[in-house]
Amino acid sequence: MHGDLRESWWIREVEVPTRVVLAPMAGVSVQAFRRQGRRFGAGLVCSEMVSCAGIEHRNERTLGYLRVGGDEHPLAIQIFGSDPGAMAEAARMVAAAGADVVDMNFGCPVRKVTKTGAGAYLLDDPALACRITEAVASAVPVPVTVKMRRGVEGGSRACLELGPRLVEAGAAALTLHPRSATQMYTGYADHSLTAELVSLVDVPVIASGDVTSHAKAQSVLAATGAAAVMVGRGAQGNPWALREIVFGEGAQPSREEVAAELIHFVRETVRELGERRASGFLKKFYGWYLGYGRFPRPFKQELVQLSSTDEVVTRLLAAAPGAAELVEQIPLAADEILLVGLPISIYGGG
Ligand SMILES: Cc1cc2nc3c(=O)[nH]c(=O)nc-3n(C[C@H](O)[C@H](O)[C@H](O)COP(=O)(O)O)c2cc1C
Repeated sequence: MHGDLRESWWIREVEVPTRVVLAPMAGVSVQAFRRQGRRFGAGLVCSEMVSCAGIEHRNERTLGYLRVGGDEHPLAIQIFGSDPGAMAEAARMVAAAGADVVDMNFGCPVRKVTKTGAGAYLLDDPALACRITEAVASAVPVPVTVKMRRGVEGGSRACLELGPRLVEAGAAALTLHPRSATQMYTGYADHSLTAELVSLVDVPVIASGDVTSHAKAQSVLAATGAAAVMVGRGAQGNPWALREIVFGEGAQPSREEVAAELIHFVRETVRELGERRASGFLKKFYGWYLGYGRFPRPFKQELVQLSSTDEVVTRLLAAAPGAAELVEQIPLAADEILLVGLPISIYGGG
């Protein structure tokens, strides 16, 4: 069994250097988050779900999700939609933007997405799911993967029937988050289904759900035979968890390290989204970073109320002066490769 999380594995011709994948999370997986994930040991990082309709209509904000940095590879960009032709076109664009893997979302439980026939809706329409997979897999030279839930309703085992059909249609790997769509995030991820899926397909399976420690990651890999684990909520504001999961090193970060990492994240996010969008986007991250007993509770409240990210940085440096030197030691982001054929002006805040 694949016990060593530091081992590399492959999605077709794409080598993934560790068995830990950073989860796609809408409203979280910005480029700064993905780059940080790579620095802390994630072998593969993933964009949040990007609407294929948004790509088709060249929606400015959607295209902003397609920024790809030289230090992000290997990178999966996740797309969602319900029309095979539009999904294939979106896949061509994300592959041209530099994605090493095109991932498709067949698991999003949010009504806004499922009512359009996308996300978890596709778990109930295997024929359409397969047509989309075929269209996308034949449109791009890079591997195409699918991320799904166990099924729509509680107790559903739809993923076990659908998984092998998706592989036949061209999926080069499958990620399973074994909760149902109606479950959202309640209950627990039942990885006995992941083990069953692994036994049914001959492509790598990534196990997603409730992996927050090295011990849990090892036990999920051992119990399921999955090629890798995916980490989502456990990495929010806590890149150190990724390091612990990959390398088994449990050292908690010092206050200075936390402040330095947060300052770097704030600066990178402002560069990416611009000050106005970044200052709202970042507020949830303050709680995530400063939690775990790292800083007193009122401090978080104080940061959330500050009106500019410059003030946030100043306040963090006052609370942890040693952070200034540590920030300087964080490697700067590599140059971005911008989307071919699109005006650079679409990248507000770039
Ligand atoms: C805030 C948030 C946003 C998410 N957005 C996406 C998404 O865009 N695409 C996707 O496939 N899964 C998404 N997920 C699901 C995660 O990728 C993952 O499968 C799930 O959180 C279970 O893993 P965890 O227990 O490690 O968090 C999201 C989860 C959260 C918490």
